[in-house]
Amino acid sequence: MRRGRGHDRFRPKDFEAFVRRMLDPGRDRWQQPARVLRALRVRPNAVVADIGAGPGYFTLRLARAVGPRGHVYAVDPEPRSLERLRRRLERLGVRNVTPVLSRGDDPHLPAGACDLVLIIDTYHHFPDGAAFLRRAAGALKPGGRLVGIDFQKRETPVGPPVEHRVAREEFLRDARRAGLALVAEHPFLPYQYFVVPRPRTRRRRPLVAATRAAR
Ligand SMILES: C[S@@+](CC[C@H](N)C(=O)[O-])C[C@H]1O[C@@H](n2cnc3c(N)ncnc32)[C@H](O)[C@@H]1O
Repeated sequence: MRRGRGHDRFRPKDFEAFVRRMLDPGRDRWQQPARVLRALRVRPNAVVADIGAGPGYFTLRLARAVGPRGHVYAVDPEPRSLERLRRRLERLGVRNVTPVLSRGDDPHLPAGACDLVLIIDTYHHFPDGAAFLRRAAGALKPGGRLVGIDFQKRETPVGPPVEHRVAREEFLRDARRAGLALVAEHPFLPYQYFVVPRPRTRRRRPLVAATRAAR
């Protein structure tokens, strides 16, 4: 196992402190969730997956953005996070989110269901990033996009220890190995990279070759 990868099965010792950190309103200053959603043009009726959703910092914002006819899959292997999210959904009357208890190496999403799959501050937990991205990409509809937002591999005022982080270049290398190509990048977050890869489309065979083959 490489350094910075799958450093443990994520099981925070102080779960309440983890939830406070994830949902801290002060996070908005550097995480800029509204600007992230605007940059992604998250539309009403869209189907979105939030992989590594935790207690739902992005999940609830996504649920609002896609509206009552859209849907959000909130994926996490930590039952306590999903339970906390479930309580928040109930309290707020949100009915367009499905919490999904995943396995470390598999998001357990339905195939071809999503317009957008987000992986935010979670990538360093995957034991095999390329394999996980390939599975995550399998949940995309044709034309769907994957989103990687994670801490740059340098000291920043917030974020996990630098040795646990996965650099942008490594994320993109894994994405290429998983059959994805970078289609957009948004460089406005102060501590994180924000990249948007999507499955490479297979080149159509030239029409002339197809015509010859048909003879
Ligand atoms: C730092 S938290 C980020 C939570 C959320 N994305 C956010 O930005 O508020 C990382 C989350 O990834 C989840 N996680 C850990 N290993 C995972 C895996 N193999 N697949 C999916 N999620 C995982 C953890 O349980 C945790 O909720």
